[in-house]
Amino acid sequence: MYTRAEIAPGIHQLRFYDAQRGIGFNQYLIEAAQPALVSTGGVGQFEALWGALAERLDPRRLRWLVVPHFEADEAGAVAAFQARCPEARPVCAAVAARQLTGFGLSGRPHVVADGDTLDLGGYQLRFLLVPWEMHLWPGLVAFEETRGVLFSSDLFGQRLDPTGEQPADLAVAMAPMTQGAVPVRALRDEIYARLAALPVRLIAPGHGFAFPVAGDFQTVAARVEAAAVGA
Ligand SMILES: [Fe+2]
Ligand SMILES: [Fe+2]
Repeated sequence: MYTRAEIAPGIHQLRFYDAQRGIGFNQYLIEAAQPALVSTGGVGQFEALWGALAERLDPRRLRWLVVPHFEADEAGAVAAFQARCPEARPVCAAVAARQLTGFGLSGRPHVVADGDTLDLGGYQLRFLLVPWEMHLWPGLVAFEETRGVLFSSDLFGQRLDPTGEQPADLAVAMAPMTQGAVPVRALRDEIYARLAALPVRLIAPGHGFAFPVAGDFQTVAARVEAAAVGA
């Protein structure tokens, strides 16, 4: 079952907690003129997600399906959405596009390069490539520039129920998934440095709680890395 929370004007976190696996999943709806969904969730949750989306818009109007990397929780329902949404196109890096087409899940992904932007109408996404496909090849994170929301996918993700009580120190909960997503410290440091150059106000991960950036971005990253060392 999904719950929904508006984390910034017109940006909704759609939340699902898999109690059996002990992990929460988030997808995000951006209510732009060209509506976008960030991560599709797995196909097993597709109907529940469709119902949750329908509380805000006719989901058949979805235009963009942002795929941070090719994994079931980020891309599992791409084909299901494309079957129902005539205008929907995945947005992804070249590696994920090869998987989506090669597995027969999509015929026409929109491929973005590092630094590319996508005007959604009232909202704008900027994409940064992040080495987290298989073989540490590039996938992406998306930054919504008008509201300052970073859709960080597995970076800063937590295996927590996002509808439950938020722990006092999220950094400890974020460390394992962040470290697992890009398992090379030097590469994570490069990513942090690039993200720190963006005016990020809110981090919206694919798992667990979204949270505001209090102070500067590098402080958040440093706290996560400090927790990872002790993990
Ligand atoms: Fe993932
Ligand atoms: Fe994920």
